[in-house]
Amino acid sequence: MERITETLTILTEADKEAGDLPKVSEDELAVGKKRLYIESYGCQMNYSDSEIVAAVMRNAGFATTSTAEEADVIFLNTCAIRDNAEQKVRNRLKQLNGLKKRRPELLVGMLGCMAERLKAKLLEEEKIVDIVAGPDAYRDIPKLVEEAESGQKAVNVFLSREETYADISPIRLNSNGVTAFISIMRGCDNMCSFCVVPYTRGRERSRDPHSIVREARDLFEAGYREVTLLGQNVDSYKWTPEGSTETVTFAQLLESVARVSPDLRIRFSTSHPKDITDEVLYTMAKFDNICKYIHLPAQSGNSRILKLMNRTYDREWYLRKIDRIRAVLGDDCGISHDMIAGFCSETEEEHQDTLSLMEYARYDYGYMFAYSERPGTPAAKKYADDIPYDVKLRRLNEIIALQQRLSLERNRRHIGKVHRVLIEGTSKRSEDFLCGRNDQNKMVVFPKGRYAKGDYVNVLVTDCTAATLLGETVES
Ligand code: SAH
Ligand code: SF4
Ligand code: F3S
Repeated sequence: MERITETLTILTEADKEAGDLPKVSEDELAVGKKRLYIESYGCQMNYSDSEIVAAVMRNAGFATTSTAEEADVIFLNTCAIRDNAEQKVRNRLKQLNGLKKRRPELLVGMLGCMAERLKAKLLEEEKIVDIVAGPDAYRDIPKLVEEAESGQKAVNVFLSREETYADISPIRLNSNGVTAFISIMRGCDNMCSFCVVPYTRGRERSRDPHSIVREARDLFEAGYREVTLLGQNVDSYKWTPEGSTETVTFAQLLESVARVSPDLRIRFSTSHPKDITDEVLYTMAKFDNICKYIHLPAQSGNSRILKLMNRTYDREWYLRKIDRIRAVLGDDCGISHDMIAGFCSETEEEHQDTLSLMEYARYDYGYMFAYSERPGTPAAKKYADDIPYDVKLRRLNEIIALQQRLSLERNRRHIGKVHRVLIEGTSKRSEDFLCGRNDQNKMVVFPKGRYAKGDYVNVLVTDCTAATLLGETVES
């Protein structure tokens, strides 16, 4: 399962172009300080959380290091979304065993969703682990480290209804200095039947909008030019100030962040098809600096399966959302999806509905997975995981092949057109090329010329692959 679901995602090529996601933390001069090494797995929220953990640990006197070998404390910020995500972490723990044998005083902590799912059981299953901390327990980490230093195993997996870490200034790990994530909410109140997230991240809660806008402004002043507002379901963001009855919606938050500067690009993820409103689409249309790109996971193109998944919309509703996006934001608006192949009882015809929905939506990208049953979820309790592995795999590969074709078709539309690109860095393929994203989140590669990271440039697209646009800079 590992190879299929993790490596065949269409976006991987573009992501590589942008540089690996922040896998390890920054180095710094740390004379006399203890060193922390953090490795992150899973979604952007986990990467963002690692930056909060680094800030908490820095306040406790730890410096960060980018090599596990140098660390006094190693944290793995883990994901539990599919079985293979957990296997990856277990394999990594095996690798770390050697280090721990050589240096028994080395502390290993498990953070994030797998830690929350397995709780103290992890300590029994993985002897190398000293600390287990769930996503809402990160303020407590220095105390847990102290406990572990004194020889006890330390666990905090308490889930909070309030914690948003709003006052903590994240330490940007492995940052390109141009793009950054801002968490705007935590948890999830949707109960998609296949999904472990409500159990690992708890109830949904939104963060104070002032702290979000402040963080965006600080990033802009520090030279950043793009922020991605993160939440499992950003469209259900809501904040009611104390003593007030007026609620700040996601559309209003988006507008406030967009007003920080016209030169600060705004992205957001993830949108739930049932919650994204016209107000959000109109706000996107109103501001040039809100990127015209929406990640709108479908999960399936068949209404019966969507009902079993408890997604609360059906095929028709989803298709009308796509129509609405195209009507308000035009045909060029980038749209991507998540899709699950081989959910419980999915028939061949129902799988075909997924393919036809994809054709209709003409997605730019996709993140595609074989269904992986997660213990304790409604689907695991109620439905049999009855699609044979080879059938899941074949369906997944059909979905992926179709997405490859759609991505290529969508990218070809841009050939001959000029795109505004925010430069993120040097292309991984060659020092002589730069790369950055256009409005629709497509990676664009072009010769370096006199430009540098953080500049906006106009690029005429001359060629493309399914994952990347290629071009040359032109004067505006
Ligand atoms: N909050 C986001 C998704 C978060 S999880 C949303 O609602 O869209 C990211 C993706 O992982 C999901 O969209 C889904 O496609 C996939 N996923 C979640 N649970 C899964 C499971 N049990 N098996 C396979 N894929 C799963
Ligand atoms: Fe999981 Fe559904 Fe919540 Fe997304 S919206 S995190 S898929 S429960
Ligand atoms: Fe994984 Fe947790 Fe994100 S399960 S996908 S790290 S919310």
